[in-house]
Order: sequence, then C-alpha cells, then structure tokens
Amino acid sequence: MTAAAPEKTETFPPTHPALRAWVRDIADLTKPDRVVWCDGSDTEARGLTEALVQTGTLEPLARPGDYLARTDPGDVARVEERTFICSPDEADAGPTNNWMDPVEMRATMTALYDGCMRGRTMYIVPFCMGPLDAAEPKFGVEITDSAYVVLSMRTMTRMGAEVLAAMGEDAPFVRALHSVGAPLEPGEKDVPWPCNETKYITQFPATREIWSYGSGYGGNSLLGKKCYSLRIASVMGRDEGWLAEHMLILKLTSPQGSTHYIAAAFPSACGKTNLAMLEPTLPGWRVETLGDDIAWLRFGDDGRLYAINPEYGLFGVAPGTDWTTNPNAMRTLERGNTIYTNVARTPEGGVWWEGMGDAPAGLTDWHGEAWNGSAPAAHPNSRFCVPIRQCPILAPEYDDPRGVPISAILFGGRRRTTIPLVTEARDWAHGVFLGATLSSETTAAATGQVGVVRRDPMAMLPFIGYHAGDYFAHWINIGKNADAAALPKIFYVNWFRRGDDGRFLWPGFGENSRVLKWVVERLEGTGEAVETPIGLTPPAAAIDRTGLDLDEADVAAALRVDLDEWRAELPDLTEWFDRFGEKLPTVLWSELDALKVRLDG
Ligand code: GTP
Ligand code: MN
Ligand code: MN
Repeated sequence: MTAAAPEKTETFPPTHPALRAWVRDIADLTKPDRVVWCDGSDTEARGLTEALVQTGTLEPLARPGDYLARTDPGDVARVEERTFICSPDEADAGPTNNWMDPVEMRATMTALYDGCMRGRTMYIVPFCMGPLDAAEPKFGVEITDSAYVVLSMRTMTRMGAEVLAAMGEDAPFVRALHSVGAPLEPGEKDVPWPCNETKYITQFPATREIWSYGSGYGGNSLLGKKCYSLRIASVMGRDEGWLAEHMLILKLTSPQGSTHYIAAAFPSACGKTNLAMLEPTLPGWRVETLGDDIAWLRFGDDGRLYAINPEYGLFGVAPGTDWTTNPNAMRTLERGNTIYTNVARTPEGGVWWEGMGDAPAGLTDWHGEAWNGSAPAAHPNSRFCVPIRQCPILAPEYDDPRGVPISAILFGGRRRTTIPLVTEARDWAHGVFLGATLSSETTAAATGQVGVVRRDPMAMLPFIGYHAGDYFAHWINIGKNADAAALPKIFYVNWFRRGDDGRFLWPGFGENSRVLKWVVERLEGTGEAVETPIGLTPPAAAIDRTGLDLDEADVAAALRVDLDEWRAELPDLTEWFDRFGEKLPTVLWSELDALKVRLDG
C-alpha cells in the first residue's frame, strides 16, 4: 500500500497567496491522493518514519532514531549527465553545464509530472537555508512525493511551521518540485525505493526554480542542498555580490589561543567532512565545526568575507569514516537520529562500511543480501544523514546569521601526482587561478567512471549555476572590490599524493592539522615559505613533525614541486581555459602565461 501519511489535509493553510497558488497548480498537475503541509514536528516525523518502515523503505536499527534505507541499485549518486541549467540563453549555461531551452524542458517535464503522484501523498516542505533570523532569510518550499525526502530535509534544513510563519504573506521563496516519478495504480503495492529510470535534475536560474524527477538519492532529491544552496544560490550570489561555494567551514584555535576561521573547497568525496571535524594530532590545537559541505560568503561591514553554513545537518560519505580517521563523525553518529543510506548492516542492527576495520560476521550488504565479500558491502557513495547539532565539536557560532570572518580558503583535490601537499597563492588572482584550474580524480559521489582526472574549478564543476567563465570573473571581482589585506589568503592542498609504491605520501586526517598549523603561521606572518614556479610552499622543516612517524625526506616528497610533472600539465590547462573563450578573465590567462614562463625559466 502507499505510505499512509498522517491524516491531515491542509491543516494549517498558510496565508501566502503565491505559495498557495503554486501548491494548487502542482497538485492539479501531479494528481496526488493526499496533500500534506509539513510542520516539522516530532509527531509528524514519527508518523512518516512508521509509514516508511511499513513500506520497507526504512529499516529500524539498534540505536534510537537510526534507520537504514537501501536505494534502487540504479539510484545511488548524483546524476551529472541528467543535470541541466535551463537559462533562457544557452550561452549563460556555459561549456561546463548541460543546457536545454527552458520552454522545451518545461514541456518535457510537465508531461512527466502529469499524474506522477497518483496513489501517493504530496508533501509540502517549507524550509530555510541558513538561520531563520538572518536579515534576509533564504526561503524555499519543496514539494515532494517522498516521505524519505521529507525526513531528510527535516535533518538537513531548518524546516516546518516556523519557516512558514516567518514567510508571512509574501516572502520570496525558491520553488523546488520533486517527484520520484513512480505513480501507483489503485491497489498497486509500492516498492521500498520508488524511482524512475528517466531522471532530470533541472535548475531554472532566471526564475530561481528547481524541478527534479525520477530520483530519490540525496543530491538529486534534497533540493535545499546542491540544487538550491549551490546551483541557484551561485546565481543569486553573482547577481547580489556574494559567493555560494562547495566549502566546509572550520574554526581553528592555536595553543596560544588565537582563532582563525578557514573554509575549504574539495570535490565530492575528497575530504571536506573529514577536515571539518578534524581531531588535531598536534597537541594544544583545537578544531570546531561550522559546516562540512556548503558555505555562503559575503562581505561584512569591516570588508572581510563572512561565511555561513546554510545547512542544518550532515549528509556525509560513510565509507572511510572510522574512529581512527574521523572520530568526531563517529561521536556524532553515536547519538543516533541518523538515516543511513546504502550502508551494510550487522545482525545486531548496527552499521558497517569499508574502512571500518574487519567486517563482522553475518553482514547484510547494501543490496539487502547476505554479504559474500566479493563486492563492497556498503556502496562507495553510501551516506549518513544526521543533525549537525549532534556534532560534539560544533562551534556555537554556526547558527549566527552574521557568519564568521574567513582568514583562509583552501582548495584541494585528489591527485596521485603533481600537486604538492600544500601551496600558498601569491595573491587573490593567483588563488583564483589555483581554484579555476583545480583538478581531481572522479569519485563514486557521481555516477560514471571513478578515478579519472578532470578539472573541477573551485570543486564546483557540477554546481555552478551559470557560465563558468562568468563565475571566474565573479571571483576575480570579489577580490577587486576588496581591501587586499582583509581578503582570505588562498592555499591549495592535496592529501592524496602517492609514492612510486602507490602508498599515500601523507598520512592525512588528524595529521592535516600540521598543514593547518603552517597555514596559520603564514596568516600570522611567522611561517617560512619558499618561492616556486607554482606558488609558495613550506620547506619540509617548516611542517611540524612532533610525534609524527615520518622523517623530513618523507615530508619533502609530499611537498615536492616536480617541474616535469607541471610542464606535462600545461597543455591541458591551456585547453581548459580555451573552453571559456571570451568569458575567461584575462588575468587568468596572464596567470597561466606567467606559470609557463616560470616553468621554462
Ligand atoms: P561530499 O560530502 O561528497 O562533498 O565529500 P567530502 O568532501 O565531504 O568527502 P569526505 O570527507 O567524506 O571524504 C571522502 C573520502 O576521502 C573518505 O573515503 C575519506 O576516508 C577520504 N579522506 C578524507 N580525508 C582524507 C585524508 O586526509 N587522506 C586520505 N588519504 N583520505 C582522506
Ligand atoms: Mn558535497
Ligand atoms: Mn561531505
């Protein structure tokens, strides 16, 4: 049977006429059996959870509030080839996005949406990205036919009756429509993970709308996250002078008590959640978390860039998360209230994934079958969805609508070769160059081949909602409009460089605190750096090795600038910049030319 929703139809109709009209239109189109306005209450969540357990979408686990979802095997990650930026003018989508004419896309998707919620409940989820008490709260309303999405949005965003009340009669909001695309005939039995082979993840930037169809997977269905907070918000940021970025935010306190806020952009599954919750191995250093995936940065009155985390929960990669790598994530999860998706399950109702030590006996794999060890037990892109408030090192400022002043921005990728452990940009424009040319090996976070090196500018390749050349220009302009001394310093890191034996040259995780320490020393004017053709790098001796089982030569290997590797990179860099044609800011061409000269010198 269909997921029985709490018996409640328009129990608290909002006073917002535009919202009401939109909801009516969508209900007329999608033809659900029931319409439910979500209030975000515990009672509502309990009812939805029970209904999802009945349909087999969720399985209760041992810890209170913990549930396991297993997706359809074809619905496990973001689908970049099915993601569209439908700007009125194709040129505005640029060379890095799929584009379709918005009129045509609306026609195609309207046909798909016609009757797509038959036999199901249509949920209306009012949400706010960022604090509700912000000067201009960023509202959204997601209409979805998935109770799994409602529960996940409840964790990932500030959502429910309070938001609706704050929207009043006329607050602007992002319209976010989602359907799994699986209507039910009368009497038809539902499947645990309804979805459709046809998938569309569509952004209409001009009208700030999102239409998603066919997928229940987080990045495709929790529309407050990538679709709103990155793709749509990047367009808002372009128009309004701020930045929406794929960045974690952390607070770092030194043994002397000096505090810096650091933002870092790494591509999906390249270490943001891990760095955000870092447990420093260097004594006396302390990290607190503000965000692990998305940051909105805007100038404060003092000319500094302030960051907020628009999200309210953590949607983290499970594999690789363990007491040794990310103890603070483990402590966050120990507190329960987590929806796991596509992890393995122990006979006792616990969870397990690759990277969590030896596999216990009797595992059920992510397909729901007894695990025989021939393939990963947990899907490589399996995830946990947990309230950020459960993070034991959450910085109290995470909820401050003014945000926190950023001292340093780190860009980073997953590269076996070429990219040193850490490089400091000479200035803002050089930093933008490092970000614009960021490269990384692809991961399981998106469908497609894994391990292929691709350019992923600012770790935003799948998330820039407009022409990437204009996006680079926007970054350059942010620097032009600011006092250079107030701007964050920019660094480029790579935790993933390997030696000839294939092993990581740098131990990573908590040991990354040693790199952060050098970053802070650079900010405070005490750190040593040497000029190289690609930027400033620390001499190996400048990385604190107290208590570390590596000698200076090992650190030097991780830091090495290999000129031949860099020269080999140049043709691809040129080809990359050529893709943006006229739109590429000339300062970035100048940066590339200067790099060529330095490498040939
Ligand atoms: P999204 O949430 O998809 O945007 O990814 P993310 O950037 O938050 O990635 P996450 O922190 O979840 O890390 C993904 C993978 O990278 C995990 O398998 C980690 O174990 C691994 N990883 C993270 N930090 C390090 C590190 O310092 N060194 C090494 N070798 N691996 C790391
Ligand atoms: Mn991400
Ligand atoms: Mn993450």
